[in-house]
Amino acid sequence: MKARIIDGKRIAAEMREALKERVKSLGHVGLAVIIVGENPASKVYVRNKEKACIEAGIHSEVIALPETTEQDELLERIRALNLDSKIHGILVQLPLPAHIDSRKALDSISAEKDVDGFHPFNVGSLLLGNPGLQPCTPHGVMKMLEREKVEIRGKHAVIVGASNIVGKPMAIMLLHQGATITICNSKTKDLARHTRDADILVVAVGRPNLVTGDMIKEGAVVIDVGMNRLESGKLAGDVDFESASGRASMITPVPGGVGPMTIAMLLENAVEAAARSKRG
Ligand code: GUN
Repeated sequence: MKARIIDGKRIAAEMREALKERVKSLGHVGLAVIIVGENPASKVYVRNKEKACIEAGIHSEVIALPETTEQDELLERIRALNLDSKIHGILVQLPLPAHIDSRKALDSISAEKDVDGFHPFNVGSLLLGNPGLQPCTPHGVMKMLEREKVEIRGKHAVIVGASNIVGKPMAIMLLHQGATITICNSKTKDLARHTRDADILVVAVGRPNLVTGDMIKEGAVVIDVGMNRLESGKLAGDVDFESASGRASMITPVPGGVGPMTIAMLLENAVEAAARSKRG
């Protein structure tokens, strides 16, 4: 089988185009992004988010703080943004420097402005099946599956990686759509035994080419969340695209798959937060 490529770039572009109208009708949507320190990958992500905001007509405020910023200073900045009526969404770019307690920072963002969906209130709401703002990457994957008309109910979804940002919320979202779920982690014995049983395989671990074609069931849908910069400078996913596309029925490429969807969902969350605040 030669897999059909799921074009995340195109789907994301369509979604961003549709959002422009909603932004116009809301009048003003404001998103604040806080970045602490000089992590080069984070800087690229933040720049891309800013560009996408501008293109969608969303007011974007990037707050770049030095590596030496104290935790209290960061919390004070977040508190001020929580109270700022022109700001509807707040995102603190991860990772934060080691001397800052990331959980404390994320918890201090008002749940109504938590466009990453990382606040315990939003995590709990997702778990209970009554989602508020949802984490962008797994939400983007769900949108892709929906657009591609992938049947989820009754399928076996295997998720490799159990992070709070992707793996865990991904599992919950697929569970709510009727999939049977397996979550693998770094301690999993015989990973291939699990991945070979997946109708839908989501890989989000950050290890280039961890999953190869022989680990994939014929006809599976493969979603590669990995974004690894190789020494050559090339970007690679967690899935070996060449061998995997010989087995899968559909597959996301890297780049151009999940990545663009994450940004589109961030913009959608900012618009959703603004719409909710206007509804009161
Ligand atoms: N760093 C890597 N991925 C993410 C994300 O989705 N949100 C934030 N805030 N930081 C990240």
